Amino acid sequence: MYSEKVMDHFQNPRNVGEIENASGVGTVGNAKCGDIMRIYLDIDENQVIRDCKFKTFGCGAAVATSSMATELVKGKTIQEAMEVTNKAVMEALDGLPPVKVHCSLLAEEAIHAALWDYAEKNHIVIEGLQKPKSDIHEGEEDEKEEY
Ligand code: FES
Repeated sequence: MYSEKVMDHFQNPRNVGEIENASGVGTVGNAKCGDIMRIYLDIDENQVIRDCKFKTFGCGAAVATSSMATELVKGKTIQEAMEVTNKAVMEALDGLPPVKVHCSLLAEEAIHAALWDYAEKNHIVIEGLQKPKSDIHEGEEDEKEEY
């Protein structure tokens, strides 16, 4: 069901932890599954992401996607980090089962939320960045409601 890469990042997640005095911190959750993800970014004066850490209180796919997302944004500029979408994270993990796609959305939104926090702190505008939702379940279109 899961690719080897997903299993690897789930069992040996990279970049777990916190960054003290982070340049930006983003926390997002999904009210439906109850999972929460927090991403810390350390951004230098050239707007390059020097370091990135995460904490995830969530499912295995959420751990694997946060781990991969942190690996993908490290060393990138903030504009390049904007291209780390949930699709990019899923591709890097060799795919996720359809019911787990929302977990990768959490990773994308957590990065955006951390970038938003950085932009606000530094009074800058990051092109293409929209105010993040704290609950990514809002506005999710692909999933059917189950009652
Ligand atoms: Fe919700 Fe994975 S089940 S983040």
